[in-house]
Amino acid sequence: MTNQPESIRFDYNNMMSVYVGAKEGFTDKDLDAVKPLAAEAFNFVKKNRGTGMMGWTELPYNQKDVVKDIIFTAKKIRRSFDAFVVLGIGGSALGPMAVFQALCHMRHNELPKSKRKAPKFYVEDNVDPERMSSLLDILDLDKTMFNVITKSGSTSETMSQYLIIMDLLKRRYGDKASEHIIATTDAVSGSLIKIAKKENIKTFYIPAGVGGRFSELCPVGLLPAAVLGIDIKELLKGAAFMDRACRKADIRSNMALASAVTQYIAMQRGKNISVMMPYADSLRLISDWYAQLWAESLGKAENIKGEKVYVGQTPVKALGVTDQHSQVQLYTEGPFDKVVTFIGVDRYRAEVKISEGCEDFPSVNFLCGHTLNELIASEMAATEYALTKNNRLNRRITLPEVNAHTIGQLMMFFMLETAYAGAMLGIDAYNQPGVEEGKNATYALLGRAGYEAKAAELNARPEKNPKYIIEAQ
Ligand code: PA5
Repeated sequence: MTNQPESIRFDYNNMMSVYVGAKEGFTDKDLDAVKPLAAEAFNFVKKNRGTGMMGWTELPYNQKDVVKDIIFTAKKIRRSFDAFVVLGIGGSALGPMAVFQALCHMRHNELPKSKRKAPKFYVEDNVDPERMSSLLDILDLDKTMFNVITKSGSTSETMSQYLIIMDLLKRRYGDKASEHIIATTDAVSGSLIKIAKKENIKTFYIPAGVGGRFSELCPVGLLPAAVLGIDIKELLKGAAFMDRACRKADIRSNMALASAVTQYIAMQRGKNISVMMPYADSLRLISDWYAQLWAESLGKAENIKGEKVYVGQTPVKALGVTDQHSQVQLYTEGPFDKVVTFIGVDRYRAEVKISEGCEDFPSVNFLCGHTLNELIASEMAATEYALTKNNRLNRRITLPEVNAHTIGQLMMFFMLETAYAGAMLGIDAYNQPGVEEGKNATYALLGRAGYEAKAAELNARPEKNPKYIIEAQ
């Protein structure tokens, strides 16, 4: 017996013509044809790792001291607080939510405290006033720790939430308000770091070369995870394991590179949609996290040479088996514009037997004696079969089990896949000019100083024509 950790697996058989037919499927020749480009992408990632905005590649290796501080701080929070609330959006929220959903009890917040053994967990990633107001209805401020997370330190949504919460805390606790809030932000740039220093707020730093959607494995995700009792060292070990496994240039052994290559060929053939379909509720929010990573990183108008390319693949979130009863009809018979990625699990962390009964009804009774585990696995295999039979490109990622190590592997796998795919497309996977445009327009609409020109630009937009607005009469 070795102590080698169990690896996740990537299976792209059903992208190949032998399985999905010659018209849609790829041949070994097709894979060989993109090998030079894949090699360039591999070398680009290898050369640039740890530099510029690729600081995320080193997170599994360079956070020894910060991990110690996080574990120490998390212990104190677990002792004194009964709720932990993240205020953040996009990359400052999706990772914490995905890891919580994957690695905590699925009904965590509803468990009695004795069973929960960690604070209740909330991630507030919207500024819907009804949502904020309902949160304030249920929180006991005395027992709540807030974690405001923003890399830029100035995102309107997050900073509005900060203003509301800090005002409440100050009114209740005066000088001691900062004992109820922790900031996670850039060490130098943005307003939050300056505010945190002024208000004496404990702060964790988002390393300079780590952008929002690549930040789950730094304090953005590690502090909430540690507060929830998740083994963050194991999470980082899983990420390191995948990172090391992907240091081979050969697409037949580097699974993130192989994955990027299959998506790249698919995109070149007009497959503009990437459906992520885990067959596990615990992985449901991994799809949300993936959607941001894939969409914001690859959806670009220009390549690095400044030429217009308009590339990207629209991520769609689906859940097996639930969405078999809503979306799979389209995937099986609709346009040939998708790649469906299934995520399966070998061993679920629970086994549920289907009870005996309905003896007079063979159409129901055949289920008896089986388990829900068998049912969900069979349904994934069956959907995979139906798609393949209908010549639909699909792939499968399998986790031996959902645990901190395999989630670390999976997240690193997707980040590397995105980095390789970005390099193959020749775009900057780390900027988000489209998001910035919206952020700046919001500043202008709310009258932020310095955005007068943007406000003038917005005010000059054509009035909406009532002719195209209908009300029920
Ligand atoms: O990936 C990104 O950089 C963005 O989606 C950000 O995460 C998002 O806009 C929130 O930004 P910030 O963390 O600066 O508040």
